[in-house]
Amino acid sequence: MGVVISVINNKGGTGKTTTSLNLGAAFAEKGHNVLLIDLDSQCNLSTSIGISDSPLHVGNLLLGEKSIDEVIIQKDKIHVIASTDTLLDYEQRINNEPGREYILNEALLAIKEKYDFIVMDCAPSLGTLSLNSLVAADFYIVPMQAENFAFIGLDKILQISEKVKKRMNPKLELVGILFLKLSGKTRFSQAIISNLNNNGELKNKVFKTRIRQDIALMEASAFGKTIFEYSKSGRGAFDYRKLAEEVILKIKEAKAPLL
Ligand SMILES: Nc1ncnc2c1ncn2[C@@H]1O[C@H](COP(=O)(O)OP(=O)(O)OP(=O)(O)O)[C@@H](O)[C@H]1O
Ligand SMILES: [Mg+2]
Repeated sequence: MGVVISVINNKGGTGKTTTSLNLGAAFAEKGHNVLLIDLDSQCNLSTSIGISDSPLHVGNLLLGEKSIDEVIIQKDKIHVIASTDTLLDYEQRINNEPGREYILNEALLAIKEKYDFIVMDCAPSLGTLSLNSLVAADFYIVPMQAENFAFIGLDKILQISEKVKKRMNPKLELVGILFLKLSGKTRFSQAIISNLNNNGELKNKVFKTRIRQDIALMEASAFGKTIFEYSKSGRGAFDYRKLAEEVILKIKEAKAPLL
């Protein structure tokens, strides 16, 4: 049965898409079967993996216009459900459906066992599609930058996720908070990270792996490639391989009490 991971933060530009794509690609490099789902009308994940203007997309799936098998696109070893720039229209229509937060979860049930990992890239919002992602997820990851105002919104995501866990999806767990785009160890970034590490509830929830500043990560997505296709021995590829290992370890630990 696939592990379903939501990559979520309602703040924009924190590295959700870069992480969904390259964490998924790192799992695939390790030989896992991976499905990526783009839940953002900006379509950055789709474009970053080389899919533009896909006629079949996640909006069709959510409205029941197409089956999940029809909307899955294969990109080398990775499977993708692309987004559309009209996704907000689909979101509005879904808002009128009974049980609107459960639609993605229901759609994924049919194919979960085919994948080892299903990774969902959320838009910078906590609207219906992001809630669908949290209801469908086993785990979620919050990417953030060690910068001013970074914590704004973190409380909100954690509170919403707690509510989703309590009311809709008891299995939902935070895998970790991931710091990205670090350039060296500035005193300021260290202060932000240690602030979080000293927070009683969150101290074991900050990934040891950090994604350093790497221009190749930006270039790779501009060329429609994963970091492993674009610069497989660079810093970005190294960091995302390390992250994949840490995520797998944390998931095993989280699941251990159930075994
Ligand atoms: N480690 C990094 N080093 C350098 N640039 C990075 C790094 N991580 C991400 N970026 C760049 O930062 C920008 C924002 O990243 P990304 O698109 O992944 O954020 P996002 O959270 O998905 O944004 P949005 O909220 O708009 O969906 C992109 O141009 C991306 O290429
Ligand atoms: Mg994005």
